[in-house]
Amino acid sequence: MTKHRLLPDLPFGSYDEYESARDGGAGLAAARRLGPEATISALSASGLRGRGGAGFPAGRKWASIRAGGADAGDRYVVANGAEGEPGTFKDRALMARNPYQVLEGLQIAAETIGAAHAFVGVKRSFAPQIEALERASREMTERGMLGSIPITIVTGPDEYLFGEETGLLEVVEGGDPLPRIVPPYLMGLFATTPPVGWSAGADVVEDGSITGSNPTLVTNVETLANVPLILARGSDWYRSVGTSESPGTVIATVVGDVQRAGVAEIELGTPLSEVIVGIGGGVRPGRRFKAALSGVANPVITAADVDAPLAYETMQAIGSGMGACGFIVYDDTADMVAVARMVSRFLYVESCGQCPACKFGTGEVTAYLENIAAGTGDEHDIELIGARLLTVTDANRCYLGTQEQRVISSLLRAFPEDFVAHLEGAAPALLLPVPKLVSLDDGVATYDPRQGLKLPDWTFAS
Ligand SMILES: Cc1cc2nc3c(=O)[nH]c(=O)nc-3n(C[C@H](O)[C@H](O)[C@H](O)COP(=O)(O)O)c2cc1C
Ligand code: SF4
Repeated sequence: MTKHRLLPDLPFGSYDEYESARDGGAGLAAARRLGPEATISALSASGLRGRGGAGFPAGRKWASIRAGGADAGDRYVVANGAEGEPGTFKDRALMARNPYQVLEGLQIAAETIGAAHAFVGVKRSFAPQIEALERASREMTERGMLGSIPITIVTGPDEYLFGEETGLLEVVEGGDPLPRIVPPYLMGLFATTPPVGWSAGADVVEDGSITGSNPTLVTNVETLANVPLILARGSDWYRSVGTSESPGTVIATVVGDVQRAGVAEIELGTPLSEVIVGIGGGVRPGRRFKAALSGVANPVITAADVDAPLAYETMQAIGSGMGACGFIVYDDTADMVAVARMVSRFLYVESCGQCPACKFGTGEVTAYLENIAAGTGDEHDIELIGARLLTVTDANRCYLGTQEQRVISSLLRAFPEDFVAHLEGAAPALLLPVPKLVSLDDGVATYDPRQGLKLPDWTFAS
């Protein structure tokens, strides 16, 4: 599709291959020559946006961590490779095929923000990726590339919330992936003075920083892989593809009702319909595109919007979002009640329960959707879903409740006829598996068979 900057067609087998294909090491050398301030300026000028989901400008994020204040304590950087978004395989493809570029980006980030330690968080089930990262780290250390800041690969559980930035920090500290109230740039790894709650002992000093708050840069592995080339080749080169608000390339995944599942790097601004055809071969013969979900984080994309350019600003303009650029495609045979139940049940099961409105709300919505899907529901269930979706986000620590609100309400709005059909006696909806990928090889996506057995307390049914 596009000449790749991040994801090679075949894995780089050694640092030498990476070095010759991608000017390996040139970005790090440029960052060392430029120094932290100019490195951050180059990053800001490139317009690079975070690939973890929200698309936050990377330069602004790095600058805020660096400016955290003289008394803020140690700084840290954590590369988020915990990839758990349904329909997404891009970080695993990247880490397996090109771990060098991720680690070079991480090293640049660590030196630029002045980190005491750098971490890469990955699921312990990601065996090929862990092997690739360890190999790359060994090779790069032997060449003296990685300097004196230690890089540790931290492995964690399969839970969805491991990928949430503060859940990730908890895992790095040895805990369970339970999101925190305070974001990492305000209270990071190994912080000594929690600034809220009964144990508050924070000392806010003159520049507004909090003593011992340890500002921590948490950023996606794909975001980091963009950094070496931006520094080696310049921000104008980086901006030579993509759109002005979404420059560069992005690694997209396409699964679902398509001819083949796939993952590939594309130019930002490519119409979504072209991406679905280019990576997935389009819907199967004789079928029509009905909808696509960008993971389980954004409102559904309907046929009316499928030609929209895949870029942060245009996905937002159609009322959806890029998310992690993993698209679950549905054709005209899909029952969107079944889709809504699958998404809601996934979010309910994965919710950690620290915020009552999220755990109870996702649970109630799932129960009403199960009624409707089974053919035992009525209009009252729809009203109750609407009421619960209004409050599911109340006092939430993380974004998961908002995801429930955005995805489920969009499905109700976009496909009322599917819901009415079940209220009027259509056959019960099929139970759909969660497209939580465990592998994606030769056009075949394999979903985690255990997810269907997972219970809301994170144990498994036998
Ligand atoms: C429920 C939930 C799950 C998430 N999972 C991931 C994930 O698997 N990988 C990831 O990079 N970001 C994930 N995120 C986003 C992170 O919290 C964070 O915004 C991101 O790592 C920041 O990186 P970026 O600035 O490079 O985009 C998740 C967020 C939420 C709310
Ligand atoms: S919003 Fe939900 S998933 Fe996030 S911390 Fe609260 S209960 Fe847990």
